[in-house]
Amino acid sequence: MDIENEPVTVLGLGAMGTALARALLRAGHPVTVWNRTPARAEALAAEGARVAPDPAAAVAAGALTVVCLLDDAAVAAVLDPLGGDLAGATLVNLTSGTPEQARDAATRLTHLGADVLAGTIMVPTPLVGTPDALVLYSGVAGVHEEHRPTLEALGRTDYLGADPGRAALFDLGMLDVFFAGMASFLHAAAVVGRDGITGADFAPYAEQVAAILPATFRGLAADVDAASHPGDEDNLVINPRRSPTSSRPAGAGASTRPCPSWSTGSRSGPSTAVTAPTGSRASSRSSRPDRTGRPHALAARPMARWTAAREGSVASS
Ligand SMILES: NC(=O)c1ccc[n+]([C@@H]2O[C@H](COP(=O)([O-])OP(=O)(O)OC[C@H]3O[C@@H](n4cnc5c(N)ncnc54)[C@H](OP(=O)(O)O)[C@@H]3O)[C@@H](O)[C@H]2O)c1
Repeated sequence: MDIENEPVTVLGLGAMGTALARALLRAGHPVTVWNRTPARAEALAAEGARVAPDPAAAVAAGALTVVCLLDDAAVAAVLDPLGGDLAGATLVNLTSGTPEQARDAATRLTHLGADVLAGTIMVPTPLVGTPDALVLYSGVAGVHEEHRPTLEALGRTDYLGADPGRAALFDLGMLDVFFAGMASFLHAAAVVGRDGITGADFAPYAEQVAAILPATFRGLAADVDAASHPGDEDNLVINPRRSPTSSRPAGAGASTRPCPSWSTGSRSGPSTAVTAPTGSRASSRSSRPDRTGRPHALAARPMARWTAAREGSVASS
């Protein structure tokens, strides 16, 4: 079979399944689709897709079947009843879920005779089929190797290993970073908003700090891999107003609002703040360039150290 024109089936025509089917049609593949609610297949039929009457007929029509349903329960509801009809089928399960669900689904479907590649789509629907799309895969390596040209119609493909749960694990990790970033922006916008700063005014500054995160991640990755979090450099502490060593009572001064103060000094005192990097390890870290090419202290500041320094301050306050 000419792999460039191999027939592909798409099970599930929600927002994402429809985008996947469309990208495959655009790439020139004969596409067969099936959806629980048949009306959702009508637009794709008008664009050239063949609509199968049931999941078994759909799987039989494709050299490769892409599964993109709501969740693992939907995958079980659609595929498990097919039983022996899945013998010899090649399934690419792009339904999101936990690593355990991906492994369980792969085990169930493998027992029914299918070759299973699990995957997670890391972009929203408008990017599917564009050079900006990323899809992570794990599971049967041969499926990824043999069908890679077809899968590339959906976006960049990264194969992460034989464990079918690995792609879902990376999905969880990447979403952790993404949602933490969104939550931190909303929190920061609320903080600066207390002084009347709009989200639009603050956003460019949030972007500035986000731009140094890649270098920070690389530094943290080295710490994680070395299991070393010495907390001996770049410490950063926000002095609590209630610090007993403060010469100014809480609430005194021009502002009645909480107003963290910043200072530099040793970690040994309760009002410690920013400690300049010392020693060879600190020097090598502080020499990492930021995006402007200059060494940038913040880019090199591991959160673990920030947290350790802050906890030290709170404990001593
Ligand atoms: N949308 C995105 O931007 C995006 C991005 C990355 C990953 N994903 C993942 O892609 C998968 C699909 O997402 P989506 O956005 O396409 O969701 P969706 O628009 O809600 O579509 C859900 C699909 O699952 C089907 N379905 C649900 N329960 C079913 C059941 N019990 N039996 C048979 N079919 C069932 C629905 O069929 P009916 O039409 O009959 O209801 C529909 O085809 C999810 O796992 C999602 O996490 C989505």
